[in-house]
Amino acid sequence: MPKDDESQTITRWGKQYGDVVRVSLLGRNVIFLNSLKAANDLLDKRSSNYSDRPELSLVTQSMGMDWNFGLMPYGNLWRRLRKVFTSKLGIRKAFVNYAEVQQGVMGQLLRRLEHSPEDFLDHLRLHIEQLMMKAVYGLHAESSEDHRVQNVHNFLEAFSDAARPVAYLVSSLPIIKHIPSLWPGVIYKRSTAEMNTMIKDMLEVPFADAKALIADGNNASSYVSDLLEGQEPEEDVKKTAAIVMGGGFETTLATATAFILAMVKYPEVQQKAQDEIDKVIGQNRLPTFEDRDSLPYVYAIFKETLRWHTVAPQGLPHESKEDDVYNGFSIPAKSTVMANIWGILHDPDVYPDPMDFKPERYFSSDGKLDFSANDPARVVFGFGRRICAGMFFAENSLWIIIAQILATMKISHAYDKEGREISVELKPMAGVVSQPSPFKCTIVPRSEQAMRLIAAKE
Ligand code: HEM
Repeated sequence: MPKDDESQTITRWGKQYGDVVRVSLLGRNVIFLNSLKAANDLLDKRSSNYSDRPELSLVTQSMGMDWNFGLMPYGNLWRRLRKVFTSKLGIRKAFVNYAEVQQGVMGQLLRRLEHSPEDFLDHLRLHIEQLMMKAVYGLHAESSEDHRVQNVHNFLEAFSDAARPVAYLVSSLPIIKHIPSLWPGVIYKRSTAEMNTMIKDMLEVPFADAKALIADGNNASSYVSDLLEGQEPEEDVKKTAAIVMGGGFETTLATATAFILAMVKYPEVQQKAQDEIDKVIGQNRLPTFEDRDSLPYVYAIFKETLRWHTVAPQGLPHESKEDDVYNGFSIPAKSTVMANIWGILHDPDVYPDPMDFKPERYFSSDGKLDFSANDPARVVFGFGRRICAGMFFAENSLWIIIAQILATMKISHAYDKEGREISVELKPMAGVVSQPSPFKCTIVPRSEQAMRLIAAKE
């Protein structure tokens, strides 16, 4: 089992051995599904058997994270919490409920990019933190140093290493469970007690702050305030709120960062999108969600970003409940089943020149957007009953970032001291959620008119 380069290795196994590859690791079966068909056949069509998660006892129990429905076994508690979450953040409603916040915080991002473009990564990070704190709790996070935000990062740091397939296996060995110094990744650097405190804070502190705002009567509508007005038990609201940043922060950040990288590397794509925006909207206002359908090339850039840099290369692991047989292969009960999302989205038969960023691949010969054969969103958010619960919220957060940055900024290569262009490459880092490796670029406003629009934006 590779420690790094998991995606490449698993994809190679797929080519060598086929759609369904079983790896036996310390007696545990890990099944990798290397084609969309196999992933659909098992995780979607037989979802009653494949919707569990492997026990992540190391993370969930020892660190007080057992409220996280994304890692929870399939069952009534998972069903109840997921329902609460999707009642506000699921299909369609996400658009109505949070579009205002998603659009509202864009002005600050654009101004920060204009004033200190070299810190673009920090700006994207703060933007997503502020967006989520506002949408979920109605709270304003002044900076990334806000302790409520810091707690989320500590959680993610531990989670990302601990939830990789290798770590699952290591953590399931009883002897290792009791020797923290053998635990993988960063966890051993902190004591379990320390992690427990941080994770408890992440759950409790912003929720208490949101409730205090509501009690004072000076809160804007948020996920928490909306749900507390209804009949949902307070505990369920609190637990599901904490998941938004837990599940949504790194994924959104990685995709937004990959978008910037793609624009540096593919100036012709950027130019084509800006021509589209200028033609459809003009230069006197910024694109809003109402413009999404009339900007097909911008939408194709969003989809191609999801594919090109696959933020969750193997998704999250599913677990089978009962023995099953698929195409003559036996899949024993309690197998860990993972879709090779990266491999599926880099299959040259479906995506010719898969390593290239090509929004054109989503247009049919008559120039119309056509995702019928290759929509990355059908893969990148996972499968079956455990499909990403925040996918619509993610799409809106990202689309507005992409559209408004394209409308106002020119993104290009940075130069070294000798004036030579610094080349950039997409180098995904390891992790359940993979970030592109850091890179440098130049970002400047496209025109004086763009600067006026940025300044005028609230
Ligand atoms: C580009 C952005 C995102 C990507 C690519 C992504 C991808 C995924 C994937 C692959 C899974 C696992 C699905 C499976 O088990 O088959 C997942 C689960 C999940 N995601 Fe996302 N995600 C994104 C953004 C978000 C956001 C913004 C939120 C929160 C608002 C979120 C919340 C969740 C939750 C709660 C789960 C667990 C679902 C469950 O176990 O029932 N995700 N996501």
